[in-house]
Amino acid sequence: MLIVQISDLHITTPSKKAYGVASTGDNLSLCVDHINQLKPQPDLVLVTGDICNENSFDELINAKNLLDELNYPYYVMPGNHDTRNDLTAVFGTVHCPVSFEENNPSSFISYIIDYKALRMIAIDSTIKGKSGGELCKNRLAWLKDQLDKEQNKPTIIIMHHPPIKLGVFETDMDIFIGTEKLGKLLNNYSNIKAILSGHIHRHTHTLWSNTVVITAPSTSMELMLELDSKQPSKFYNEPPSYLLHYWTPDNNLVSHAIVVHETNGPYPFRSY
Ligand SMILES: [Fe+2]
Ligand SMILES: [Fe+2]
Repeated sequence: MLIVQISDLHITTPSKKAYGVASTGDNLSLCVDHINQLKPQPDLVLVTGDICNENSFDELINAKNLLDELNYPYYVMPGNHDTRNDLTAVFGTVHCPVSFEENNPSSFISYIIDYKALRMIAIDSTIKGKSGGELCKNRLAWLKDQLDKEQNKPTIIIMHHPPIKLGVFETDMDIFIGTEKLGKLLNNYSNIKAILSGHIHRHTHTLWSNTVVITAPSTSMELMLELDSKQPSKFYNEPPSYLLHYWTPDNNLVSHAIVVHETNGPYPFRSY
């Protein structure tokens, strides 16, 4: 089973560039073309938040038009740049299978994708109007219920914000509320193969609370690696990249980072 993860698309309206310099729509199109040519074909695509750049409906419409070119089912999650209500209105239940109620404070964009060998629990980590993340009492209770229902099936948790600090000052400044409680909860289960996140615009992985936290790169903007910085981050315009998570016949999750750019080759990896 193959799962593509793209994250932090930061799509603008067609005539604009993100922060005046990043052609985020063009980069997404390059990613989509690359994903459509993968062999073997992936089963589905997870879009792990920050789909638009300035929280606008028109940007989300543009993002949907670009994502609709994918040849595979795709599912969207909100990031801190997205508005829950707009996200559900634009993508509908096909791509965001949840009935979200805007005026209900305990309504979130959290849902289950139970597909073949894996159970994927997508959980909304956003806080309205803030850049940081949170799993509040309600969301943690929902997550516990879902985890209790299937304790033997390999499970992946998907949420925009990684629950721990990863050394990128810009995003480490964003507090994640509920880290300790989430960590304690996850320690009770042995079937959680990974937490797939985005938000930090860099590919990282680290062991935490009986599982591994994996962050996907942005499809456009790579935040600078400055582990000793105490300043807001800058970004590089990078070739688009994404993650391909391979659930192997031996029941392991192997995550490949793929950069979409010109290459030469392939050449035989041996001498004659
Ligand atoms: Fe982002
Ligand atoms: Fe984010």
